[in-house]
Amino acid sequence: MSQPTVYSPSPEFVRNANVQGMEGYLELYRRAEQNPEEFWGEVAGQEIHWFEKWSHVLEWQPPFARWFVGAKINASYNCLDRHIATHRKNKVAILWEGEPGEQRFITYQELHRLVSRFASVLKNRGYQTGDRAIIYMPMIPELPIAMLACARLGIIHSVVFGGFSSEALKARVQDLGASVVITADGGYRRGKEVKLKPAVDEAMAECPSVRDVIVYRRTGSEITMQAGRDLWWHELDATASEDCPAVPLDSEHPLFVLYTSGTTGKPKGILHTTGGYLTQTTASMKWIFDLKDEDTYWCSADIGWVTGHTYIVYGPLSAGATTVIYEGSPDYPQFDRWWRIVEKYRVNTLYTSPTAIRALLRQGEQWPKMHDLSSLRLLGSVGEPINPAAWEWYHRVIGKARCPIVDTWWQTETGSTMIAPMPGAVPQKPGSGTLPLPGVVPDIVDLNGKEVGPEREGFLIIRRPWPGMIRTIWGDPERFKEQYWSRVPGAYFTGDAARRDHDGYYWVLGRVDDVMNVSGHRLSTMEVESALVRHPAVAEAAVVGKPHEITGQAVCCFVTLKQGDFNRDQLGKDLRQWVAHEIGTFARPEEIRFTEALPKTRSGKIMRRLLREIVTTNTVSGDVTTLEDLSVVTRLASQHDED
Ligand code: WTA
Repeated sequence: MSQPTVYSPSPEFVRNANVQGMEGYLELYRRAEQNPEEFWGEVAGQEIHWFEKWSHVLEWQPPFARWFVGAKINASYNCLDRHIATHRKNKVAILWEGEPGEQRFITYQELHRLVSRFASVLKNRGYQTGDRAIIYMPMIPELPIAMLACARLGIIHSVVFGGFSSEALKARVQDLGASVVITADGGYRRGKEVKLKPAVDEAMAECPSVRDVIVYRRTGSEITMQAGRDLWWHELDATASEDCPAVPLDSEHPLFVLYTSGTTGKPKGILHTTGGYLTQTTASMKWIFDLKDEDTYWCSADIGWVTGHTYIVYGPLSAGATTVIYEGSPDYPQFDRWWRIVEKYRVNTLYTSPTAIRALLRQGEQWPKMHDLSSLRLLGSVGEPINPAAWEWYHRVIGKARCPIVDTWWQTETGSTMIAPMPGAVPQKPGSGTLPLPGVVPDIVDLNGKEVGPEREGFLIIRRPWPGMIRTIWGDPERFKEQYWSRVPGAYFTGDAARRDHDGYYWVLGRVDDVMNVSGHRLSTMEVESALVRHPAVAEAAVVGKPHEITGQAVCCFVTLKQGDFNRDQLGKDLRQWVAHEIGTFARPEEIRFTEALPKTRSGKIMRRLLREIVTTNTVSGDVTTLEDLSVVTRLASQHDED
């Protein structure tokens, strides 16, 4: 195997870095390893404001953890109040650009005012600590404002990505038992309005727990407002008080629930609490992005995913940074939009996904070349493995061979980054997340939980509890135990395969379960299958991820039909649209293949492994002895050649 190129940070970068050189990293890592509780106690004391200190750092009754036991904290206070008493009072907290081109520069003081007003609105409507709010909004400042207003009062928020359909929205409102939905008329993407309110209206018909739907006017387009349920944000805001103190909450008070795909048709509500999440989020923000007070920092994710929660909202604001939020798509009005933003605001750090990098790469170098990108000093990547070719392009064309790239491995469940190079300390190898952050103890094991040697593939696990870890699955602690803690006793099972090289660097290879990763978005094969079989024409469906040049994976569906006369071309189109309606547009299948039967084991389990092989190579090898009807596979494999 050829050795990957190693990229070391420049001496100048190291000199100015928060953590300097390998010695700096190793010193921190060893300290955390030797005495994790003392280490995290120190970090929590330095990085976070506490109304009351903890009695002890960790209470660990596997798999249930409590961090900073007995302490009192408020995330909104940490993101706002503590900064306005400092030089950051008039610093820009949120630098927002709408897709049509509007700009808003919201200082910490102003953000504090806006959040306090909206928190007053919620309080006046009777919402309080422990209530649940669903937030379904475009990428506008009111989205983080709503999150921080909830956090201020201890209302548990769950942000639903604007690309989810009304069906997906409904399932989340119901599972969470939310009493308020915060939304907008719509937002802008690719020059068009994407409406949100009609999806809310459709969902609300079956959501009796919801008392109020609060609507922010973003686009001004025609929507219906239902009397007695729907309220305009601006009307409520008109009489809102600006005095709404942050409520001191228990360190383990839930901050948010974020739904993500698991291996069944039902999404899981990942629960994060306050003290541990905020501690690790804030610390990792400074470690991986080498954050400086004067940085203009931009994470291009959507706030509806965990990356946006941790590295657009809570991480940057708790650390007192300027966080850029851009509403729209990278190709509007043309493919230089991102580079235009970098140039205009002199962005120093850009954090994005391999899918976005590959899509921009494909458009050619002329777009970034149109702009001055010299302000950039650091680049980041998240969400899926980055292929070395995309890494090299990002490094050369965007970073001008000057900027370290932090490839950050983590999950919705981990809360913040677990494996990533501290940029002024750890040399990078394209495609590797490199080494774990301090206080994180990963390992790679076989099916028996035994550590595998260097260069061997195995399951990525985390051996020790960490402050930002998932606490449970909302309403389903049994599923929490079963999914993450039953495979390898005493350790957290990530669901990823990985190997470790001779330098101890981690190389994450992808999922080992039935979860696809499409454009860095997690999607379960079962979720798409359940959506398909709800269609009246479909008898059975099997879904697999197919390698895709830009999005990493694409959704490929094998479908058997009920009796009847179907126009398959039309039905193929209808089914793609159907899945988009049932889940969201990002889940729209790339391909629908009709087949007479699906390959199954004798016990009736669909053999997705074979289907994956078929879509990847168009051939089948390996063990097929458990197959019920071998001819099905041969036909599926040959069918593609006939198309
Ligand atoms: C994958 C996103 C390789 C992985 C923060 C993980 C990655 C899943 C990387 C979590 C990376 C994320 N390299 N793979 N740097 N980052 N993944 O919950 O399979 O949306 O389990 O969290 O994305 O996706 P999630």
